[in-house]
Amino acid sequence: MTAYLVEPASHVSGTVRVPGDKSISHRALMLGGIAEGITEVRGFLESEDCLATMRAMRALGVTIEQKGPHEVRVHGVGMRGLHGASHPLDLGNSGTAMRLMTGLLSGQSFDSELIGDSSLMKRPMERAATPLRQMGARIATLNGKPPVKISGGAALNGIRFELPVASAQVKSAVLLGGLYAQGTTTVIEPAVTRDHTERMLLGFGCALRANGDEVQLDPPQRLRACALAVPGDFSSSAFFMVAGSIGRGSGLTIKGVGINPTRTGMLDILALMGADLRVAGHRSAGAEPVADIEVHPARLKGIHVPEHLVPLAIDEFPALFVAAACAEGETLVTGAEELRVKESDRIQVMADGLRAMGVECEVLADGMRIQGRPEGLPFSGGTVDSHGDHRIAMSFAVASLRAAAPIRILDVANVATSFPGFVDVARGAGLDLAEHA
Ligand code: S3P
Repeated sequence: MTAYLVEPASHVSGTVRVPGDKSISHRALMLGGIAEGITEVRGFLESEDCLATMRAMRALGVTIEQKGPHEVRVHGVGMRGLHGASHPLDLGNSGTAMRLMTGLLSGQSFDSELIGDSSLMKRPMERAATPLRQMGARIATLNGKPPVKISGGAALNGIRFELPVASAQVKSAVLLGGLYAQGTTTVIEPAVTRDHTERMLLGFGCALRANGDEVQLDPPQRLRACALAVPGDFSSSAFFMVAGSIGRGSGLTIKGVGINPTRTGMLDILALMGADLRVAGHRSAGAEPVADIEVHPARLKGIHVPEHLVPLAIDEFPALFVAAACAEGETLVTGAEELRVKESDRIQVMADGLRAMGVECEVLADGMRIQGRPEGLPFSGGTVDSHGDHRIAMSFAVASLRAAAPIRILDVANVATSFPGFVDVARGAGLDLAEHA
């Protein structure tokens, strides 16, 4: 089992580039695959999760060329051009791939079966299957979990669906099913979630209306291929926002990061904690806004994280818990029960890791209470089990900036699901970490 050994470090500086956005890369392959024509994707994230989607789309009959580093060319087969795969589609560690594929495949003429790794096989899939069944899809799960078996040939109808949980994956699954439905599909969100699917569908020529918490899609005749530029992944940049805040030194500039406002709750949360962050050089990558993020060391203070920011920062909580552990006073996170059904139970696994380093924290059903240890009260170091969760592994690597002794982080191979090359980028910024078999 691979592990990181992270020696204490203190200073970070320089410029960081993070790899392409994971959410957008998955969607580029799926929508490009059912468009008519060739979709050129620049900035594509060649991570294990997105490569699982790539293998699945290829198994469904889509030719995808990997033209160079981060460049792919998707030869779309049209909305009715996919064919059944000869084997179950293995989506690895990726919940996004599985839920979005459930939507995409529920309107096809052929049967499909979706499986994944031991983490994905334990994750809830009924949240996507239930609304799709209401549309007429025939989907079976095993006690709500994968394998997901989708029977082909179902006639789908548009529905008006109120999401019970704030989930971009479920919203996207329903919209992808809606591409194949008779009539309009409407999704109503309890809170704003990432809108990459909506932006990309518009780019592919789809009639879609977003109005406040409601998205409406009229099924298109066809999707038209287009050129897509994928920005740097905001979620991957979050580790460096925290590193630049809790480390010493001249700070970090993170270049070319996607700053879609449905993703940037972490900027607001860190600002409330007193972080010194500047967003500069605003530009766009197609339908998505991009900027450079500058971060300088700051004395962070504990806060009660406003619940409305939780869905806008949902993937950043592991990194945020580390920031909270370095802040003056107490940080309280509530309304974040979704963290329990991510790649790991991110509330319990983060609390166990923080405690292993001497941090006092209380696990809540829907969040955590963390007693911060400001500078002068370093973490003890120790062994932390990431439980195969990429974001937990990277978060504890960043914690080394405030550790008095080495941190050993277990089960880190899955960092490659979202951030291939993390060790080199982190070392370039000033962290002292090495990967061991
Ligand atoms: C994602 C949505 C979020 C997020 C995940 C990626 C997406 O999941 O946690 O990493 O690409 O749509 P939920 O929809 O389960 O909140």
